[in-house]
Amino acid sequence: MKAPDRYAVIGNPITHSKSPEIHAYFAAQLKQDLIYEPLLAPLNGFVASVRDFIAQGGKGMNVTVPFKLEAYALASKCTARARAAGAVNTLSFDGDAILADNTDGIGLITDIMANAGVAINGKRILLLGAGGAARGVILPLLEQQPSQLVIANRTSTKADQLVNQFDTEGAVVARDFGGLDVEGTFDIVINSTSASMAAELPPIPASMFTKETLAYDMMYGREPTVFMRFSAQHGAQVRDGLGMLIEQAAEAFFIWRGIRPNTAAVFGELRSKLVVTTS
Ligand code: ATR
Repeated sequence: MKAPDRYAVIGNPITHSKSPEIHAYFAAQLKQDLIYEPLLAPLNGFVASVRDFIAQGGKGMNVTVPFKLEAYALASKCTARARAAGAVNTLSFDGDAILADNTDGIGLITDIMANAGVAINGKRILLLGAGGAARGVILPLLEQQPSQLVIANRTSTKADQLVNQFDTEGAVVARDFGGLDVEGTFDIVINSTSASMAAELPPIPASMFTKETLAYDMMYGREPTVFMRFSAQHGAQVRDGLGMLIEQAAEAFFIWRGIRPNTAAVFGELRSKLVVTTS
């Protein structure tokens, strides 16, 4: 009998990753004979770990913190969306070739449009942050043709650089946090900063929210983030990044297996585990 195809998620640290659980659900749902494991690579040993995995017959990998830039550098061929992101979260191995993609952006778009049922086309969007997480979603957002995409970052030069990179793709401008209170309201506000991890709130004015605004935090956790609480207090609809996580995984699964999982069942399952307390 043929051995199951092998996949992994590589990172450091890696024990917290939900990807093995998500891909196990997808595989069971679609009756795919595969193994998907967490793989801890030493901080200075990403490339060697990938090569080892390929030598053992591995078919593909997800890549997480802190290796997404190294994965981009290692790739022999990149999709346009991976090139735009400058970072890679999905590798496929085909002989000696390492094919690289980035599914984070499409994960966000699918979660906002298909799962939350919120259109992006023609809408006014504010993206908070200008780090790797922001860069990965700008091209997919602009492809949906929002009326305007405003990027605001604490270090304003980084937002300016992103605008320079992407302004041929659509209506994108940079603003300082300090200038947001004269910007009026937004239809969608996306927090891509890592502020939520430190329980901090980017300095945003309450005046940007209406009751139709979708306030989306790319982070997720057992409790709503500070950004979600602030946005909800000022009337916005809120959503965390759990759906983005699941949808980026579904896209990777599709790249590898050519078949699309149904994500709704996994979403409910993971959400219920997040809210369960063990006390
Ligand atoms: P990632 O790859 O997760 O985006 P990153 O590249 O380190 O991580 O970027 C982190 C982002 O969160 C940056 O936009 C950072 O702002 P700076 O560029 O000014 O550093 C933003 N960030 C982190 N903590 C923040 C805070 N407390 N308030 C506002 N922005 C914050």
